[in-house]
Amino acid sequence: MDHSQYTQIEEWFWPYVHSFECDDKFVTANLDLKKDHTEKVCHEMNLLTDSLSLSENDKLIALLIALLHDTARFEQFVKFKTYSDAKSFNHSLRAVEILRENNVLAHISPDETHIIEKAISCHGAKEICPNCDDNSLLFARLIRDADKIDIFRVAAKNFLDYKDSPEGFVQDLPAENSDGYTPSVLQAVIDQRRVNYSELRTINDVKLLQMGWIFDINFPQSLLRIRRTGHLEVIMSLLPEDDQLQAAARYVRQYMDAQIANIDK
Ligand SMILES: [Fe+2]
Repeated sequence: MDHSQYTQIEEWFWPYVHSFECDDKFVTANLDLKKDHTEKVCHEMNLLTDSLSLSENDKLIALLIALLHDTARFEQFVKFKTYSDAKSFNHSLRAVEILRENNVLAHISPDETHIIEKAISCHGAKEICPNCDDNSLLFARLIRDADKIDIFRVAAKNFLDYKDSPEGFVQDLPAENSDGYTPSVLQAVIDQRRVNYSELRTINDVKLLQMGWIFDINFPQSLLRIRRTGHLEVIMSLLPEDDQLQAAARYVRQYMDAQIANIDK
C-alpha cells in the first residue's frame, strides 16, 4: 500500500461522512463527535505505530484501519438515533459492508484488504477475534488500543459533564443518578474479567467497566499513552470515596505501572 492509495481512500471517506449532514442539531452534534473521534483515533494510531517502530507499509495500513473503523457510525446515528449496536446494527461488521458496497478497497491488494476488513470487523467486539490469523491479529490489536485510548478521552469528558449537570445527561442505565455500584462489576475488574453491558446499573459501573478495559489493552506503549493523557485518572478520580472502589483504582494503577515498566526491557 502506498500514500497515494491512502489519500484516494481518504478522498472518498470524508465526502461520504459529510453526505450525512442535515439540519437536525441533535444529529449534527452526535455526528461531529464521531468525526472528531475518527481524527483522534488516527492521531493515536500514528503515535502507537511510531512507538512500536512498525514498517512504513504497516503504519499506513494501520492508519487506514483507524480512518475507516467507524465508517458505519454515521449511517447508524442518522437511521437509528443511537450508537447502541444492540438497538441498531453491529457497526463493526456494517463498516465492512459499506466499504464493499462502495468498492473503497478496490485498489488495495487482496492480502491487505483481508487484514483491513478483519481488523475493522472485530474492533468493537467484546473479545478480540478468536480465530484471527497472525497478520490480521497485529492490526486488530492496534485498532482496539487506539480506539480505547480515545474513548477514555470521550468518557472522561462525559463523566465531568455529568458531574456538572446530571439532569442533562442521558444514560441508558437502570439505576441512574446513584453513588452506588454493582459488586459483580467491581469483582470483574479485580478478576480481570470482561464485564457484560447488561450487568451495568449505575454510572460508577460504567467507570468500572472502562477501568477494566486496561486489562484488554494489547501494548504497554498504549498504557503509557493512557497514563500520559490522564483521562483514565480523571475517570477514577470521579469514583465515590469507597474503600473497595479506591482499592480497584489502585489495582488498575499498579497493573499499568508494572506493564509500562516492561517497555524496552
Ligand atoms: Fe467503533
